[in-house]
Amino acid sequence: MKDAQAVTIYLKDYQAPAFLIDHTELDFQLYEDHALVQSALTVRRNPDVAAAAQLVLHGQELELLEVAIDGVVQAPGQFHLTEESLLLTAPGDAFIVTCRTRITPQDNTSLEGLYKSRTMFCTQCEAEGFRKITYYLDRPDVMSRFTVRLEAETAKYPVLLSNGNQTDGGVSGDRHWASWHDPFPKPAYLFALVAGDLESLDDSFVTHSGRQVQLRIFVEPKDLDKCAHAMDSLQRSMRWDEEKFGREYDLDIFNIVAVDDFNMGAMENKSLNIFNTSCVLAHPQTTTDAGFQRVEAVVAHEYFHNWSGNRVTCRDWFQLSLKEGFTVYRDAEFSADMGSRTVKRIEEVSMLRTVQFAEDAGPLAHPVRPDSFMEISNFYTVTIYEKGAEVVRMLRTLLGEEKFRAACDLYFERHDGEAVTCEDFVLAMEAVSGRDLSQFRRWYSQAGTPRLAVSEEWDAESGMYTLNFEQSCPPTPGQELKQPFMIPVALGLLGEAGALRLQSPDMPEDAETSDNTNCVLELTQPQQSFRFGPLPERPVPSLLRGFSAPVKMSFDYRPDQLAFLLSHDDDGFNRWEAAQRLAVNAVHAVQLEAVEVDQALLNGLSNVLADVHADAAMVAEILRLPAENTLAELVDTIDVDGIHSARGKVREAVARHLQDALLERYHALAASAAYAPTAAQMAARALRNTCLSYIAVADPERGVALAQQQFEGAENMTDRHAALVTLVHHGEQSVSEAALDTFYAQFKDEPLVVNMWLQVQASAPVKNAIERVRQLLEHPAYDARNPNKIRALVGTFCNANPTNFHALDGSGYELLRETVVELNSSNPQIASRLLTPLTKWRRYDKRQQLMHSELQTIAALPDLSRDVYEVVAKSL
Ligand code: TRP
Ligand code: ZN
Repeated sequence: MKDAQAVTIYLKDYQAPAFLIDHTELDFQLYEDHALVQSALTVRRNPDVAAAAQLVLHGQELELLEVAIDGVVQAPGQFHLTEESLLLTAPGDAFIVTCRTRITPQDNTSLEGLYKSRTMFCTQCEAEGFRKITYYLDRPDVMSRFTVRLEAETAKYPVLLSNGNQTDGGVSGDRHWASWHDPFPKPAYLFALVAGDLESLDDSFVTHSGRQVQLRIFVEPKDLDKCAHAMDSLQRSMRWDEEKFGREYDLDIFNIVAVDDFNMGAMENKSLNIFNTSCVLAHPQTTTDAGFQRVEAVVAHEYFHNWSGNRVTCRDWFQLSLKEGFTVYRDAEFSADMGSRTVKRIEEVSMLRTVQFAEDAGPLAHPVRPDSFMEISNFYTVTIYEKGAEVVRMLRTLLGEEKFRAACDLYFERHDGEAVTCEDFVLAMEAVSGRDLSQFRRWYSQAGTPRLAVSEEWDAESGMYTLNFEQSCPPTPGQELKQPFMIPVALGLLGEAGALRLQSPDMPEDAETSDNTNCVLELTQPQQSFRFGPLPERPVPSLLRGFSAPVKMSFDYRPDQLAFLLSHDDDGFNRWEAAQRLAVNAVHAVQLEAVEVDQALLNGLSNVLADVHADAAMVAEILRLPAENTLAELVDTIDVDGIHSARGKVREAVARHLQDALLERYHALAASAAYAPTAAQMAARALRNTCLSYIAVADPERGVALAQQQFEGAENMTDRHAALVTLVHHGEQSVSEAALDTFYAQFKDEPLVVNMWLQVQASAPVKNAIERVRQLLEHPAYDARNPNKIRALVGTFCNANPTNFHALDGSGYELLRETVVELNSSNPQIASRLLTPLTKWRRYDKRQQLMHSELQTIAALPDLSRDVYEVVAKSL
């Protein structure tokens, strides 16, 4: 590994830029085997910073053809080039740097900078990709007005796009060009360019103040019939942001472009969002309900960035959660308003617990605002995004709806056009609420998932009920000792006949209580007690309602209390939570003592399934047992096979107990109307398909027969896909093969459906899974350069097929290592992300040695990318 790659960058070393770039002019000449980039940067000294003699521009993998200052071409001795920079001598306080560079987009497999995805040119500049296009001050606190001219062959690239408004265009021979100007100053990471043979779905939106905005979604012509849902989602997002956050769109056009090869979900470039096709295309025949929801959420997320990210951006990359956590919070609220709020919350929390808690418990744990990094691409994590959103959500809980909104308004007003910090966000919250959030700030600086142990005391004589809270947080790398967090605990107390009125001598008079039966306690001490009462009866506590803080909460509930909460809690989230706790306890009991599955779980689920008036999506969520990965997060040392088999037994017991009701509801929930991605229909399909998979567990013959019928008769991808999963995961090999062949033959020309086909096989908990994955790596449908394909096959295998990935012969680990080694040079960002499951090696007892040695093999490679190096070094 190269020494230069091991450089750590620290937040404490932040320095404001010595130079600013007021205006950036770019000219792109796009050819088949290279591109020429000419830049003109209007540079000025930053008056707030001590004068520096040298201007240091970032640049990577560029061929410098010429650099001039104020028109004077710099001779070789007048500038200094390194692997990652260009050093120039500043002639004064203001000057113009012009630069000509040559790059090769068609060889760019990292998908960072300017690259080719199939037939089109596109860019991805966040976080530090702009420096692979031209020499620049590639940091988010340097904001500039961009003017862009791009030229390419007319026949191959009829569409030429960049940020802002098109100002000019023309033809010269077989080539044509377009000029674009973006009136809003922006950091280079928000720059974008697209050239391709694209068609668009066009529509419009009239903003609150009457501005007519032209909306266009550009795709390859074959995909034009899959854009309607994204367009609809965009329009709903624009309206929602006006209504819920008072944020209006600020330009006359808003474009989305769909590309097949993309490292992440999508990118919020100013007025030119670039999307992974998987996050924009949707059609009932090729997209599942989950896919429709993902499109809606990602379209909203990127749109919302226009304010939380673009108009107000980050000072430096340590502040990444300032825009990502806040924007995830915003898109989650949007999705909650579009469908079932409770179900959305359940999905968020399941993900947080399974993935983010695991990150917090591993060698790569980091705070929401990290103190250091080697490669910023490694910090686009669930901690920054999802835990960051939880931090914003806690602020809302603490301030209340109205003050939170006022604080957001103040934040946008204070910082419009600026590059700011997480601290600025908290300051706005403090200014509006008048609260002191000093202790709350620890959520930004301390890593790790806090533990919250809760116990109760009941004094029958006085009717006083006491809850004792004890918080702690395990050490994480570089943070041995943690200070107590401020933890908002929403709770209610339930009596036989329903919610009890809450009175507490220990709560301030003005504590945020939405009514008399709900309250939010603010924990600040390592140990704290709150008394309630006098109460007419001994209550069952409903704790941490709506998951009011991202902590691991324990309370010694009896099974009958959980059963009671499951059927009576008026907090929907905690009804689900009660079922989860019952299920977790059942799995642990079976794993430890091979006992029978607890009746409280079986009867509880049976009541839920029988309730035909309950929201079907909610019922489906309650029936779903915690995933093997979720169960793994609850123990210190992970016994992969033990969890798998115990969970399997609980699943069988549930399936058998509910068998008749499952069949009945399966048939009763059959579709009666044409497919629409509405919340009600999605809920019915989710429950019906949950029933199907349980039926296949209880009675494989019947389940497979039903799945086969459903597979053949399906009128939408949701039902077809669910049936395929059941056939492949529960059917005999011949049945499974036949269904897979039929599916592939029908959809082989739909890349996103082929991804699902790969996923179904990669996740199958069957004996020959590893050989199957190895065969698929050689299949014509696989493409080792396309991140979606890599994730669908290798990513799914390593993350969603625990028994096979963790096979005791180490074959799963070996497969991952081979893939990572290959990707290390072609696409380091994807390589390092894929590596995550191996970084958890310490948690696996008999397997740790095998996992560890694969990491060592990778560490010993001669040309390790910075991305992979950081992850491997921190894990070993
Ligand atoms: N800002 C993007 C988002 O909305 C994240 C992103 C897209 C990204 N593409 C990327 C981050 C490539 C790093 C590298 O979440
Ligand atoms: Zn984002």
